[in-house]
Amino acid sequence: MSAVPVAEANASFKIQLFDAPLGAELLGLDLTSPLNDADFSRVHQAHLDHHLLVFRDQKITPAQQIAFSRRFGELQIHVLHQFQLPGHPEILIISNIKENGEPIGLGDAGHFWHSDLSYVEVPSLGSMLHAQELPAEGGDTLFANMHLAWDTLDSHLRNKIANLKAEHSYLAQYAELQRRNPWRPNLTAEQIAKVKPVLQPVVRTHPETGRKALFVSEHFTTRIAGLPEDESRDLLQQLFDHSVKPEHVYRHRWQPHDLIFWDNRSLMHLAAGCPENLRRKLYRTTIEGDVPF
Ligand code: SIN
Repeated sequence: MSAVPVAEANASFKIQLFDAPLGAELLGLDLTSPLNDADFSRVHQAHLDHHLLVFRDQKITPAQQIAFSRRFGELQIHVLHQFQLPGHPEILIISNIKENGEPIGLGDAGHFWHSDLSYVEVPSLGSMLHAQELPAEGGDTLFANMHLAWDTLDSHLRNKIANLKAEHSYLAQYAELQRRNPWRPNLTAEQIAKVKPVLQPVVRTHPETGRKALFVSEHFTTRIAGLPEDESRDLLQQLFDHSVKPEHVYRHRWQPHDLIFWDNRSLMHLAAGCPENLRRKLYRTTIEGDVPF
């Protein structure tokens, strides 16, 4: 991947934009120590500008990941409490590893395109994922730029969807995921009550930049409110297909100790998967955002 350096006099770290529709690598930061205010505000601005930040070779502890994540907002606890890191409920373990026959993490997280927690009234601002164990083959994570998806949509479709709302449901694909992965736990009544379907705008406005973005995903969006079922299905399929065109997508190839931080208000993501016999483990923190508008 080629990279374009962004120079800034006296800056303590460099920002290299990816040759891709989103993303940048931040060079020269060590996240084992808290960032000073000037560095933090530059990281924050880079996150808004590039939507996905990659920090290489970060040998941080779970507590340091949590502390860094908290600087951007409150942390959200995933409904599948079975996969919290012991002692650190703010961390969701994403892993295909089984110990004593039991999964230690959510092995199939992200196997459909989605924006984290779009199925709750206050979805996520952004998520951080820190590599713990990586497979020798596969395991990439793909990101789609939903601002570009909106910007490049034809004007007829833009007019049609501009003020529509769609239902998002955590349970939409749950049975299908359980069919593919029988280790997925049955949800308790209490867990089901926490993930009642919600209506979200089909096009959202980024609360910090004012940019518009498509906000529907194949994982969680079930129907467009007010449209007949077949029309809603066709329209959603058109929007899903358009969103993930290759020209909107960046593929992250993980390196040891990568920490990545993406904007769930601007991007969708997908875990590409890896051969079942290879071990993959990452720690995710999820930062709370705003009610979408
Ligand atoms: C996720 O959807 O948060 C997991 C992404 C991944 O495992 O690559």
